[in-house]
Amino acid sequence: MTEIQIAPSILAADFLHLEKDVEMVNSYADIFHLDIMDGTFVPNISFGFPVVEAIAKKATKPLDVHLMIVNPEKYVERFAKAGAAMISFHYEAARENSAAVIELIHSYNVNAGIVINPDCPVESIFPYLPMVDFVLIMSVFAGFGGQKFIPESLERISAVKAELERIGRPEVPIEVDGGVGPENAALVVGAGASILVAGSAVFKAPDPQKAILYMKG
Ligand code: DX5
Ligand code: ZN
Repeated sequence: MTEIQIAPSILAADFLHLEKDVEMVNSYADIFHLDIMDGTFVPNISFGFPVVEAIAKKATKPLDVHLMIVNPEKYVERFAKAGAAMISFHYEAARENSAAVIELIHSYNVNAGIVINPDCPVESIFPYLPMVDFVLIMSVFAGFGGQKFIPESLERISAVKAELERIGRPEVPIEVDGGVGPENAALVVGAGASILVAGSAVFKAPDPQKAILYMKG
């Protein structure tokens, strides 16, 4: 059975006590999910290099940088050098440049992921599935934490899973991001995902450790 990995989204962490939340992820979770928003690709601004670099100093788990920015190729190098082990970019931001962005990410020995928003047909990313190290399917529209999971995302996960199987790459992990928590984790995993991003469901939980363990199943 595939191991389920939990990637707490630092966007929902306590920025006044970030070290405490970083230690919690180190102890109980699998991956640090870091949301980078530029106020242009998405109507929100999150955090940038100083925060990523500070987390990298204390993190003992891999850093997964989710770029919600235009021209992602401009910043791949800096995020790679800041300590990212995984970098994902939106297909909607790169379009026909997507293969080049994947190659650029690989040139820094970083795992490359392609991301799609809920309104982007899953077929758009099929040409890139032979190249990527993971796929990120948004289950809310990128831009804000704390939104409600869109149920139609389940069929989209299954469709990408089926295509990965068809091309002989069933091992490529599918990551799901947005509104994921203990109430829907089993459904998301059942559809074919193995990396669950969870912001509010972890950091706003009375017991984050318990929420993580529950979602791991
Ligand atoms: C949304 C971000 C998510 C967000 C998830 O644009 O990509 O990673 O932080 O937050 P929750 O789990 O609260 O929906
Ligand atoms: Zn994210």
